Amino acid sequence: MRKPKPKFKKERPPDQHAVDTDWRLFIALPMPDAVQERIAKTVDLLSDHDLPVRWVAAESAHLTLHFLGETPTERAELVRMGLGTAVSRHAPFALHTGDLGVFPGIRKPRVIWQGLNGQTERLAALHREIGRQLVQLEFEVDDRQFHPHVTLGRVRDNPPASLGVDIQHALNDRRIAELVMSSRVEIPITEVLLVRSFLERGGARHVPIDRYPLRG
Ligand code: 2AM
Repeated sequence: MRKPKPKFKKERPPDQHAVDTDWRLFIALPMPDAVQERIAKTVDLLSDHDLPVRWVAAESAHLTLHFLGETPTERAELVRMGLGTAVSRHAPFALHTGDLGVFPGIRKPRVIWQGLNGQTERLAALHREIGRQLVQLEFEVDDRQFHPHVTLGRVRDNPPASLGVDIQHALNDRRIAELVMSSRVEIPITEVLLVRSFLERGGARHVPIDRYPLRG
């Protein structure tokens, strides 16, 4: 017997390359090669612990300043025009790698991160100024406390109840603690990126679509 035809066509995911498709955008600071190498080593050691976590590819590691989400292209153009001036008022500064930690907390871990320290007041000022610019352009800006970090991994759905303890155990791993404490890696901050994120089968692909130098 012939199968009855479905009444409706199966909905296709939107074509992310179509001209009328919104852009999934975020504003970020890139990480230099030395930090990417350090992150690759750290993630390598962490993944020995067999945690239910999707680890980042070190080459796409970044510090997110603001997440804009799905943005109509004409609004993206306004962001592109406004960001350059806001960023150029800030002089370059330096951060360095810090401790590892967990969001929102070890009892219900969702994200494992590497904290960034150094000239964090300068970073906060840059973050605030871009936030103001986005508010002017009528974007919703996350008003939670800004915690400078690079995401190393995201917990998969339905983790076991022991996950917090397992992560704590991994973070206490002597090799990892030694690597974090051995030497901090310097991060010169000289530019801000506007990044487009393409959600693909294997995870998100990040493509910088504009770069704005700090000039101060
Ligand atoms: P984080 O990992 O640096 O904390 C690109 O998706 C970036 O935007 C992510 O690295 C993530 O920051 C940040 N982001 C913030 N809010 C998000 C959201 N609701 N969905 C996806 N990414 C978000």
